[in-house]
Amino acid sequence: MFGILRASIALLAVSLSFAGEKEVAYGKYLAEEVSKCQECHTPKTATGELDKTKWMKGATLDFQPVTPADKWYERWHKTSPDITPSGRLWQRWGEKAMLEYLQTGLTPKGKPADPPMPAYKLKKADAEAMMEYLKSLK
Ligand code: HEC
Repeated sequence: MFGILRASIALLAVSLSFAGEKEVAYGKYLAEEVSKCQECHTPKTATGELDKTKWMKGATLDFQPVTPADKWYERWHKTSPDITPSGRLWQRWGEKAMLEYLQTGLTPKGKPADPPMPAYKLKKADAEAMMEYLKSLK
């Protein structure tokens, strides 16, 4: 009786952690393959490849608009912040605001981020998966 209970608890724990891994993998796919966060949030090495040792740690952008004479350009950011949980942004915003931001494109101040940061409006489950992936980064 207890044996069966213990076995089913162990099975539940295994399937839960598997669900967690699947969610992280899906979040990674959304962040890296669909949204390409790393293209702006990971610095490049001297030879132009993404620096894997500084994955999503914030970067200086290597591009800018060709028509710089408008209001939009005035708000252009030359750098992107560290979006890993150890970064200042995450510490300031917390998990709830980050999750909200990924679904609305609005920061805790109720405003969109400055260009060229896109305003992503993910479905809740997708935003949660992306969060889990970001949380898996050191
Ligand atoms: C085209 C380049 C680009 C891409 C792609 C991009 N970002 Fe950004 N991101 C930026 C820049 C530049 C900023 C700084 C803007 C600012 O401070 O207002 C920024 C800011 C942010 C912020 C902070 C916003 C604020 O107002 O402080 C978060 C969170 C963020 N990005 C997350 C992500 C995530 C997650 C992805 C992928 C889903 C992503 N970014 C993809 C360029 C980009």
